[in-house]
Amino acid sequence: MPESPNPLLSVREVHRRYRRPRTSLFGARPEVHALRGVTFDVAAGQRFGIVGESGSGKSTLIRLLCGLDSPTAGTITFNGRDVGGQPERRLGFLRDEVQVVFQDPMGSLDPRMRVRDIVAEPLARKRGVDVPARVRELLDAVGLPADAADRYPHQFSGGQRQRISIARALAPRPSVLVADEPVSALDVSVRAQILNLLTDLAEAYELTLVFVSHDLAVVRHVCDTIAVMHDGAIVELGPAARVADAPEHPYTQRLVAAVPTIRAALAGRTAADLAHGNPVQENT
Ligand SMILES: Nc1ncnc2c1ncn2[C@@H]1O[C@H](COP(=O)(O)OP(=O)(O)OP(=O)(O)O)[C@@H](O)[C@H]1O
Ligand SMILES: [Mg+2]
Repeated sequence: MPESPNPLLSVREVHRRYRRPRTSLFGARPEVHALRGVTFDVAAGQRFGIVGESGSGKSTLIRLLCGLDSPTAGTITFNGRDVGGQPERRLGFLRDEVQVVFQDPMGSLDPRMRVRDIVAEPLARKRGVDVPARVRELLDAVGLPADAADRYPHQFSGGQRQRISIARALAPRPSVLVADEPVSALDVSVRAQILNLLTDLAEAYELTLVFVSHDLAVVRHVCDTIAVMHDGAIVELGPAARVADAPEHPYTQRLVAAVPTIRAALAGRTAADLAHGNPVQENT
């Protein structure tokens, strides 16, 4: 497995087991071995994609990377500092550096808060930040009009809500943006716009991207490196083009054979964007 000399994120032999509730009084507690010895590095500036079918352990891995959960065994470091198994208060350094965008923007946005307050939330305890100016800058960066700040999440479409989540994630100037299925809940017609927004922002802000999807074509479009997860383990890891176009592992070969739904939308993107003057293109 390729290892970079100074990885930003380093994952070593990570396991995560979950105990399920007992199904009968004297029965054994069934155990789910969600991650089985996962090892990889992510270098600064890399766009690292994780692909795999439902239940393969992608979200479990993401939660560990963000310090939202701890490994049962193994280590995770960010810039050389231990992330896994730290008490909440020791993880302050991670909170600004690693930000997450989740699948369902509605579920992750407080419906009672105005967009300005949602986006400004990660800036709450920061000194010397011109918050209104920063909110304007962030809304502009994600292709939303300035007056979006006064409105509430329900007044936006799914794609626009995901733009709001992305603006909030970028607020503390993270070095790593983690996205867990960020377009899976969106209409096919807007998926490509959000994916292109993510890649444009990654470039503009020199972000390291960790991007999770069950759709290999999506990961191929966004990432330079792909890790294929199957049953809690990485079965293949390499340059995106190589993994997607000449997969070596039988499981990856099956993923490639399963016709991706997004490809048509991605192919149709350029013409549609030109026709409608996609704001993402104008802003970045
Ligand atoms: N809190 C939990 N308690 C018990 N089992 C869990 C828990 N979270 C995840 N699992 C189990 O761990 C395995 C991996 O789940 P995970 O959510 O990481 O998969 P995933 O690849 O993100 O799937 P999807 O594509 O559906 O989002 C599954 O078998 C799941 O049921
Ligand atoms: Mg998941």
